[in-house]
Amino acid sequence: MTQETAKNIIVGELRKRISVIISMVFFLILTILISVTLPLLFKRLVDVTIPARDMSEAGLLLVALITIPLVSAALNALYDYRREIIGEAISQALRQKLFKHLVNAKLRDLELTDTGHIIHHITRGCGRVGDLYIGEDLLPLMSNALMFTGVLVAMTLINWGLTLITLLAFPITYLFSKRLQNYVRTLQEEFLQVLESGSSTLQQVFSGIRTVRAFNGVAHEKARFDSWIRQHSDIQAKTITLHNVILILPTHIVDRVLMGVVFGVGAFEIINDRLTIGDLIAFMMYTPYIYGALRAMLQAQVTTTEMKVAIEGLDKFLGYEMERQGGRDLTISQEAGPSIQFEDVSFDYGRGDFALRDVSFSVRPGEFFGIVGISGGGKTTILDLLMGFYAPQSGRILINGVDIQELSLKSLRRHIGLAPQDIFLWNKSIYENLAYPDTIAAEAIAEAAAGTNLQPFIEALPEKYQTVVGERGLALSGGERQRVAICRAILKQPAILLLDEATSELDALTEAKVQEAIDHAKRGRTTIAVAHRLATVINADRILVLDDGRVAELGAPEELIARRGLFYRLYEAQKLERVT
Ligand SMILES: Nc1ncnc2c1ncn2[C@@H]1O[C@H](COP(=O)(O)OP(=O)(O)O)[C@@H](O)[C@H]1O
Ligand SMILES: [Mg+2]
Repeated sequence: MTQETAKNIIVGELRKRISVIISMVFFLILTILISVTLPLLFKRLVDVTIPARDMSEAGLLLVALITIPLVSAALNALYDYRREIIGEAISQALRQKLFKHLVNAKLRDLELTDTGHIIHHITRGCGRVGDLYIGEDLLPLMSNALMFTGVLVAMTLINWGLTLITLLAFPITYLFSKRLQNYVRTLQEEFLQVLESGSSTLQQVFSGIRTVRAFNGVAHEKARFDSWIRQHSDIQAKTITLHNVILILPTHIVDRVLMGVVFGVGAFEIINDRLTIGDLIAFMMYTPYIYGALRAMLQAQVTTTEMKVAIEGLDKFLGYEMERQGGRDLTISQEAGPSIQFEDVSFDYGRGDFALRDVSFSVRPGEFFGIVGISGGGKTTILDLLMGFYAPQSGRILINGVDIQELSLKSLRRHIGLAPQDIFLWNKSIYENLAYPDTIAAEAIAEAAAGTNLQPFIEALPEKYQTVVGERGLALSGGERQRVAICRAILKQPAILLLDEATSELDALTEAKVQEAIDHAKRGRTTIAVAHRLATVINADRILVLDDGRVAELGAPEELIARRGLFYRLYEAQKLERVT
């Protein structure tokens, strides 16, 4: 698959709207013809109609001089309307593609990306590119080039010498703007960085608001944000300076001076009978168009740079590798649930240190399989690999004998219910969180909730299942969140149930009840329960003991205790905890 770039997406959108663009060019040409004609009517009025004292022609010309600008304004409005529609379409197409790409990108890349940056580029970045491309870059350049050509022809026909003087502004401005280019680019890059960092600061402060408060970090965050505001203002001021003082002012000066020169030289030409007064008037009416085009070209240089910087930002994200697409469907025929095998699996997160090293074990169909070990030992990583969140650097993971690398991730995940260690809940109702992303009948939900001891808690809530759980579920206690997570995993009716420290925050009594639910739920499926608390997995058929990413022991709980190895030591340590 060739990589999609922002440019390709934009061109694709323009192609789709080629007929609209053609109609715009048509409006444009009409407007230009009108603009070119108008000064000629003035010339006629001054040079012919007035000397001849032709009242009827004067009347006609008067009507034309009123009507033509009106028509031209109407055409312009039509043109602007279409232009904005196309700009919007481009922004939306970019947003759509970028979202789709990032939502499918490899987890590793996303983990290393600031969420604030993503938010910035999808909301503001894409919008800006659409606006700029169509509103301030491509189309204005096109219309200015056309206008410039039309007016230039008319001016040359009147007097080529004066035209040359008028055009002197171009090399002057060109040399000047050329020198500015690098500055403009640096400014735009700085601006983008400031905008990105603003989004990510805001995003982090508010998602970490409890930590901010707990550590009395409010003043620190305020100072950080104030400094951001200053940076933003500084760069905004520089941009405004660039725009007004550096771009607009000198061109204004050049315009005015050259206009004076043209007028003065024009007077000589009139005295020498090489030019009529009407010619000079028409000429002076044309010059603003020429200088307008010049300013637009200068401005376009700034906006083109801004756009390039914005597009590079989008392309960086569009360049992220996608999660593997396609693959075979996972079919599970056993009533008991499938078998799972790890064969010499090694994995590192790119930190140079292996999180798992040569891990091999197999889980039998329908088994209740425990994984224990000290924290950081690689337990969660095993489940992450099984979910296909990451791919192992070496070794294979098989479900029912099929390498999961060959399976479609969608089908793999459809068969797995995960109650993760790091629980994420949507800031939506309990019902929506349990049913996510589908709709599930209320009775089924109530049944599962009763099984996981969630029911009494929900029934006590004012709005029951419609109660909203707060950002990331923070309006719930840790234990309540865990029960929602287990319930949600079970509701999926998966063939494989993965529980990662799923009951670590439950009190002993509640845990016993939830354990019952899990015992019930594990029937007809293969279950892997990860826990550092041994009570949680002591009923497991077999237990894998991980030590620093390696398999230390594997066996039935009583065997492991009898062996007096690592498991035994953990077991004894926890017993002691309970006694004291
Ligand atoms: N997303 C990640 N990026 C980088 N390193 C990670 C990531 N997740 C875990 N690790 C590292 O991998 C090792 C194993 O982590 P983990 O599987 O979460 O351990 P456990 O679940 O047994 O506590 C740890 O050293 C941890 O720091
Ligand atoms: Mg873990």
